[in-house]
Amino acid sequence: MAKAARETGRTGIDPRQLRDVLGAFATGVVVVTTQRRDGEPVGLTVNSFNSVSLDPPLILWSLSLAAPSLPAFRSHDFFGINILSERQRELCVRFARPAADKFAGVRFDRSVGGTPLLHDAAAHLVCRTYARYPGGDHEIYVGEVLSIEDFARPPLVFHQGSFRRLADMIEHEG
Ligand SMILES: Cc1cc2nc3c(=O)[nH]c(=O)nc-3n(C[C@H](O)[C@H](O)[C@H](O)COP(=O)(O)O)c2cc1C
Repeated sequence: MAKAARETGRTGIDPRQLRDVLGAFATGVVVVTTQRRDGEPVGLTVNSFNSVSLDPPLILWSLSLAAPSLPAFRSHDFFGINILSERQRELCVRFARPAADKFAGVRFDRSVGGTPLLHDAAAHLVCRTYARYPGGDHEIYVGEVLSIEDFARPPLVFHQGSFRRLADMIEHEG
């Protein structure tokens, strides 16, 4: 895997340009949550989330090796995917910065394995870690989906480094 990372370097692709180009791919945004060994809730904003398999039900996301929350995800086998709704932009920004008190004032419930599930999300998935793969400067997490809830709220959209509402994008198109 370290070799693959070096090969990418040899292609001469500038990481910042790569990030910009990848920004052309519009995504939703999720907060992935788990708990530390002492039960404290942990969460971070992620847009690398995607579906993998329907049978068995599998999803994936990738976690930076530099993230302070990495040890919590390595040591606990359950995590939650909170698909953010368009009204959760503030929450999205809050969970995208390292902080000890990210959950202060945030409304959430606990699910299987103590997994925090945020109120007012567009949807929830509770997962058990199925596999972890090396992925360059990230670690790829594949989760087996244990439970799902869809609240049918409009999603928060991330595109070219900005947050958008789906309705605005569609209106602009017309
Ligand atoms: C829209 C958006 C998407 C992000 N996607 C990811 C991701 O897929 N993987 C990741 O490790 N960090 C991602 N981040 C950065 C993390 O949210 C950020 O590094 C956060 O501080 C990590 O939490 P921690 O510091 O508590 O470990 C993203 C940030 C934003 C704003």
